[in-house]
Amino acid sequence: MNIGVLGTGMVGETLGTKLVSLNHNVKMGSRSASNEKAAAWVKKNGANASQGTFAEASKFGELILNCTKGEVALEALKIAGEENLKGKVLIDVSNPLDFSKGMPPTLTVCNTDSVGEQIQKNFPSVKVVKTFNTMNCLIMVNPRSLSGSHNVFICGNDAGAKNKIRDLLKSFSWKDEEILDLGDITASRGMEMVLPLWLRIMGTFKSGAFNFNIVK
Ligand SMILES: NC(=O)c1ccc[n+]([C@@H]2O[C@H](COP(=O)([O-])OP(=O)(O)OC[C@H]3O[C@@H](n4cnc5c(N)ncnc54)[C@H](OP(=O)(O)O)[C@@H]3O)[C@@H](O)[C@H]2O)c1
Repeated sequence: MNIGVLGTGMVGETLGTKLVSLNHNVKMGSRSASNEKAAAWVKKNGANASQGTFAEASKFGELILNCTKGEVALEALKIAGEENLKGKVLIDVSNPLDFSKGMPPTLTVCNTDSVGEQIQKNFPSVKVVKTFNTMNCLIMVNPRSLSGSHNVFICGNDAGAKNKIRDLLKSFSWKDEEILDLGDITASRGMEMVLPLWLRIMGTFKSGAFNFNIVK
């Protein structure tokens, strides 16, 4: 599959590398076509990896991954361009964290809204699937690095899109029973509001190598 990964941070790099290793063609998008982090990533990942602007990566991808800063995700997607996103499935990994007043960060949107919903509202033809935002990116791509069963949440309005992403998650070694579908895109609120707790646990463990396991 041709995949556009929007974001040159640790998440874009980690997910992009995993997707290339699974033989997908990945274009990493940035505000600048010659972003240095993207160039270094392309150099490491060979012929199936390329870089471009947010718009070029979005045009390239049948599937888009939003790995930009949550507080500016809408801005990044507007730069990507509605015409390049139209009708596509978009995985939103972002969290609306505001670090401007130091640690711990606060959420720029919460309770009655979320980044996932804002993307869906602003780009109605796009099939937004929120997933992966509740864990460190190294766990996203290597769930079996933790012992035992643990969960990845998924939500979105389009059942077909969620099924496609379920298959993608399974190709990353997530087990079917570990993928917890929380319903429509409004579930993004809860998924994003988990972050203050996630950050606190990370502080306690002094490591991001953990995840949530929901037990009935
Ligand atoms: N770190 C994790 O393990 C983890 C886990 C779960 C979720 N997340 C979420 O995943 C997302 C990516 O995290 P990250 O740490 O990899 O990267 P990040 O530093 O949060 O974001 C990097 C991306 O945001 C873009 N960006 C920054 N300011 C912008 C602006 N004003 N307008 C448009 N784009 C802008 C950058 O564009 P340029 O390329 O042009 O610089 C870059 O591509 C975040 O929302 C984060 O909360 C992270």
